[in-house]
Parts: sequence; C-alpha cells; structure tokens
Amino acid sequence: MASWLTLAMLLSMAAYALPSATATNFVVGDDAGWKPDFNYTAWARTKEFRVGDKLVFKYAAGFHNVIPVSGEEFKACQPNGGNRVLRSGRDVVLLKTPGRKWYLCGVAGHCELGQKLLVMVLPAPTSPPAPSPDPYSPPQFASPAPSPSC
Ligand SMILES: *[C@@H]1O[C@H](CO)[C@@H](O)[C@H](O)[C@H]1NC(C)=O
Repeated sequence: MASWLTLAMLLSMAAYALPSATATNFVVGDDAGWKPDFNYTAWARTKEFRVGDKLVFKYAAGFHNVIPVSGEEFKACQPNGGNRVLRSGRDVVLLKTPGRKWYLCGVAGHCELGQKLLVMVLPAPTSPPAPSPDPYSPPQFASPAPSPSC
C-alpha cells in the first residue's frame, strides 16, 4: 500500500516537473564532438532545436574553437573578424531566438573540412500542453457554478 502511494506521488511529481524540463542540451556531434570531417548537416537534420535549448560544443581546447557567424560568413567559411570566439573546449550556447544560427571553427581549414554547423531554431514550446478534455471522465473537482452570463 505504502509503495503504491509513493509511486503515485512520484508520478504526479513527474507530471508537474515535465513542462519545465523540456529544454534540451544538445552535445554537438554527440560522441564525435566538435571536429573537422564530420557531417553536422546530417547531425542537425535529425534534431529539433527550440528557443531555450542549448548547444554544447565539446573539443580539445586549443585545437578548435567556436565562432557564431552570419549566413554569409558561414557560406564563405570566413568570419569577418570582430566575432565572439568561444574556446573553452566545452562551450555552451543558449539558443535565445528563433531562426537560423551558424557556427564554425575558426582554425584555418577546419570549416572547409566540415567543422561548421547550421541549426534552425524553432520558437519555444508555448505553455505546457493542456490536458485534452475528455468528455467521458467525471469532473475531478466540484467547481462553483459559473455565474449566469445572460
Ligand atoms: C551531409 O549530409 C547531408 C544530409 O544527409 C547531405 O545532403 C550532404 O551531402 C552531406 N555532406 C557531405 C559533405 O557529405
């Protein structure tokens, strides 16, 4: 009995925790990490990025870096200069706004080898999905009668 009660409590807690736990940390390249000679287009294609999610670039510090760039710079594999350069080896980028975001490694030749990432960021999920109304379930709470509107 007690364990059923505990389970029920855990389940209801999980249900409450879920909506706020929807933000995802994406380790770029998964186990491969951030490196040349990897197809990040193929990697990103299977993912759904949303505002509030984070990209985690993992690599050996000193050998690579991460530069957020424009679409033009991305296409040319050539940052214009003045860009912020991330070089910690474990750079976490919060996706703050929807739209396309471009990143590349600024070490000579690496972007050309494929160390570049484009992600399409979708808007944050709106409020947690409302429970779908079930016309057959009995009302859970006695609610006060709505005040007559006419
Ligand atoms: C990377 O993968 C994408 C999608 O699967 C594919 O269209 C593209 O040709 C690949 N690029 C390289 C350089 O292999």
